[in-house]
Amino acid sequence: MIKIGIIGSGSMGAGIAQVAATAGHEVFVFDSNPVALERAQSNLLATLNKLAEKGKLDDRTAKAIFGRTYYLSELAAFSETGLVIEAIVEDLAVKKSVFKQLEGIVSADCLLATNTSSLSVAAIAAACQRPERVLGIHFFNPAPLMQLVEVVPAIQTSPDIAKQAKLLIESWGKLVVLAKDTPGFIVNRVARPYYGEALRILEEGIADIATIDWAMTALGGFRMGPFTLMDFIGNDVNYTVTETVFQSFFYDPRYKPSFTQKRLCEAGWLGKKTGRGYYDYSEGAKNPVAQQDEELGKIIFARILVMLINEAADALYMRIASRDDIDLAMTKGVNYPKGLLQWADEIGIENCVHMLDALHGEYLEDRYRCSPLLRKMAKTKQTFFETGDQRH
Ligand SMILES: NC(=O)c1ccc[n+]([C@@H]2O[C@H](COP(=O)([O-])OP(=O)(O)OC[C@H]3O[C@@H](n4cnc5c(N)ncnc54)[C@H](O)[C@@H]3O)[C@@H](O)[C@H]2O)c1
Repeated sequence: MIKIGIIGSGSMGAGIAQVAATAGHEVFVFDSNPVALERAQSNLLATLNKLAEKGKLDDRTAKAIFGRTYYLSELAAFSETGLVIEAIVEDLAVKKSVFKQLEGIVSADCLLATNTSSLSVAAIAAACQRPERVLGIHFFNPAPLMQLVEVVPAIQTSPDIAKQAKLLIESWGKLVVLAKDTPGFIVNRVARPYYGEALRILEEGIADIATIDWAMTALGGFRMGPFTLMDFIGNDVNYTVTETVFQSFFYDPRYKPSFTQKRLCEAGWLGKKTGRGYYDYSEGAKNPVAQQDEELGKIIFARILVMLINEAADALYMRIASRDDIDLAMTKGVNYPKGLLQWADEIGIENCVHMLDALHGEYLEDRYRCSPLLRKMAKTKQTFFETGDQRH
């Protein structure tokens, strides 16, 4: 069994290390900050103890997992690894310098992966002498609990390396989807309207946060409403992803960030972690209550959903990923109640096109342009799936 190297022992690195060690690998974890290393080690011990207490792991297994995870303040041991996953700060220059340094240490056949959420994998690979062994392996937070992993080959990556990585991560019990090296890959691209369109509805005064959240959960079946979810993720994190995707798409208005969210970030209303976001989390705080007006709720839900469907269809149209992988990514990466392409079939592609055209007609904004794929499918009366061939 190959040894796994992890660079960066923050939330992601620590989680990925736990996943790899649980799958039976010896794992070397490196971080430039000794405090982060110590914290990751004591957190792993605490997590494993908790799992053992709950009976989800036996004591011996828990001890073995801990025993094969090594926290190192030097990279020398990485010469023995077969795969290194980098999960350090989201900064291209820093990542490039780490990859360059790594290449001087690891063996010739070691795979080098980045867990970046938003940077170009091609740009990171370009720092290496052998870019064909570099790829993106994008885990979701928390890595031990989230089933989905996006494998992202860069244009330089050898197809064989992507295949090897996919098989390995699947052997860790994960569901792997393949995504093109484009901003936001699948999930962080397709999910944008869940936040962006909710914010737009709020800004236009169509409904308040509680009513929008109620519409998406009670009528739409989503686990968390968009405002509760943004508060949970952190408005700073969520805003940065939106802004990065917007810039990376050469300012496509579909991804335009919202002033409302920007102001919340500037005010330090980051969400649950600061006790205040869209909602007030302090004790005894009075928060808005949903209107529970079914007619209004249906309008809100239909508008956000059709914008999500449009993104999913466009991702397929632009060959970012396969039909099945796009639907799997959204149900497993962000727990959507249904795959968006399957949902489009259920609503009817023609209806989706009408809804999008109505929004476009009302606002005359490029943001509401319908994907050419949906338009083409509506004309030829096609569906994404034949009845009964959905994977989930
Ligand atoms: N947090 C998420 O939800 C999430 C999800 C998917 C992907 N990612 C990506 O994963 C990566 C890590 O994110 P995170 O949330 O774990 O960050 P984090 O801030 O929790 O951890 C980053 C760690 O990297 C260490 N570090 C920084 N520079 C280093 C260097 N040059 N060498 C070694 N260690 C260094 C830091 O000390 C820190 O412990 C980022 O690229 C991020 O975009 C994050």
